[in-house]
Amino acid sequence: MIIAIDGPAGAGKSTVARRVAAELGIDYLDTGAMYRAVTFGVLAREIDPTATDAVIRVCRELDLAITVDRVLVDGIDATSAIRGPEVTSAVSAVAATPEVRKFLVELQRDWIRTRGAGVVEGRDITTVVLPDADLKLFVTASPRVRAERRVAESGGDVEEVEATIVERDRRDETREASPLSVASEAVVIDTSEMSIDDVVADVLSRVKG
Ligand code: DC
Repeated sequence: MIIAIDGPAGAGKSTVARRVAAELGIDYLDTGAMYRAVTFGVLAREIDPTATDAVIRVCRELDLAITVDRVLVDGIDATSAIRGPEVTSAVSAVAATPEVRKFLVELQRDWIRTRGAGVVEGRDITTVVLPDADLKLFVTASPRVRAERRVAESGGDVEEVEATIVERDRRDETREASPLSVASEAVVIDTSEMSIDDVVADVLSRVKG
């Protein structure tokens, strides 16, 4: 069983993907963590994330190790740092670089080829990476709800967080390389009014049904 999940930031995708994978006893891959890990490597080398050629070079020379709960970049544990503000504000530029995407998409396909099953989550999994997945999902929620969830988790001002989310969505949806979009045959799940338990149950019913 191969499950591909896309959707915007903060829609609950990662939590759902992790839980569904655990329930099914298969592995889970967070592809956003891969883009973040490359960004961490770029910033660690004090390279401008918009300097395309230098970014591509870093991407090729990085030693990336991504497990279910740890991300190592060149042997350094970057698990917390990849979620920090520096990486978060630079990652869109890195993810917009087509060569970086090509490189990571190959790693993602290798990951699933090796296992033959798994839950893979990101922005272009249903459209580009695994268009033949057994189940394709687009998990979303309104910007307001996503902002409220973020604030409940890590504080901040709802209006400000919502504005950041809207801007990040816009960048992800309008970039030239693999913009975020709903794949044909993808099931759209709007989690605005659903609990995580409801979403997980919904996904599992689609797998079993
Ligand atoms: O899901 P996330 O917030 O960790 O993703 C980090 C960034 O990487 C975000 O700008 C979207 C981008 N991304 C992407 O372009 N393609 C993916 N498959 C996963 C993430």
